[in-house]
Amino acid sequence: MELWLGGRLATMDPTVAGPYGAIEDGAIAVEDRRIAWIGRAAELPGELASRATARHDLADRWVTPGLIDCHTHLVYGGDRAAEFELRLSGATYEQIARAGGGIRSTVKATRAADADSLFASARDRLKPLLAEGVTSIEIKSGYGLDRETELRMLRVARRLGNELPVTVRTSFLGAHAVPPEFDGRADAYIDFLISDVLPAVSEAGLADSVDAFCETIGFTLLQTKRLFEAATARGLPVRLHAEQLSDMKGAVLASHFKALSADHLEWLEADGVEALAAAGTVAVLLPGAYYFLRETKLPPIAALRQAGVPIAIATDCNPGSSPVTSLLLMLSMACTLFRLTPGEALAGVTRHAAKALALDDSHGTLSVGKAADFAIWDIERPAELAYRIGFNPLYATVRAGRSTTR
Ligand code: NIG
Ligand code: FE
Repeated sequence: MELWLGGRLATMDPTVAGPYGAIEDGAIAVEDRRIAWIGRAAELPGELASRATARHDLADRWVTPGLIDCHTHLVYGGDRAAEFELRLSGATYEQIARAGGGIRSTVKATRAADADSLFASARDRLKPLLAEGVTSIEIKSGYGLDRETELRMLRVARRLGNELPVTVRTSFLGAHAVPPEFDGRADAYIDFLISDVLPAVSEAGLADSVDAFCETIGFTLLQTKRLFEAATARGLPVRLHAEQLSDMKGAVLASHFKALSADHLEWLEADGVEALAAAGTVAVLLPGAYYFLRETKLPPIAALRQAGVPIAIATDCNPGSSPVTSLLLMLSMACTLFRLTPGEALAGVTRHAAKALALDDSHGTLSVGKAADFAIWDIERPAELAYRIGFNPLYATVRAGRSTTR
């Protein structure tokens, strides 16, 4: 039993009244990597206090749940800086993709990279996220698009979780783009995913969910549906890149499958909002991609809010549309670009992000029974996490009860 005393706790627990579910002069008791007790220090049961083997002074610092980045493409080879320059001289993201660049150029670099170099480059991108208090992350495949490379990406993602202090949830995104060897044969590629790659991924236990890119430059609604049926038959939950560049009705489809999340959503219409609300699917907003692609159409925030759809925020870390390795910057952008409140933004990288990863029973709030994952901040109020730009006030991270100073 270890005690953390004298902190201001932004529990993000909706059953704790008030903004951020805050508890002033709070204490957290940690046992077996979990939160055994949390509340006002003055109310700490004497029995717990007497069993403490260590006491840590939080010195009035704010404590939040460990941050959760619930949508990333962290593992990939190469970069797309040259494409960035092309876009600056007038080409659009879609034009580059249709000309065989975009995702396909990263596929080429990823296929050519061995597991160790994929691991090393992903670790370099993970480190700045961890340095901002991230304790859980989702990582997708989707730059292999063949069996061997998709499996390699997912193994690298699992290895990151084994070797670094972070909980990793993986998503199989074989349906990210049509690979060159299936040019003009998207249906045949989906058949191949269903008969060959998905079974291999699922039998190796390498995916926690199945994702797809439903878009004019990705896959049709029907192709997505076939993949989702195969995923569901294998007991794998689904999520979807939906309504990023056009309204394909992807969110409605995802809701039929009780998807964990529908992500991007700039082009989401009222029917999609309603479907997400009815299914309890999390809307994951990705302000980094919105910013980097200079999107001007805003996701329907007010409608999502009004319908009670849980909103999460993530980096979408990837080389093409969001080369972002700061979740704190995403909090700022979620507030400034999307007009979320700092409280909504923080819920978006804690409680709601946990739900998007089906980790909500064990993560996402500071509550009894949940993992002892928390971030300790040198700030005066939680809004500072979203307010400051390019400044990292993290004092220390505690993951599974163990402290790692920044
Ligand atoms: O989330 N939209 C599809 N996938 C990624 C971008 C992938 C890429 O351009 O490499 C996204 O934005
Ligand atoms: Fe993405």
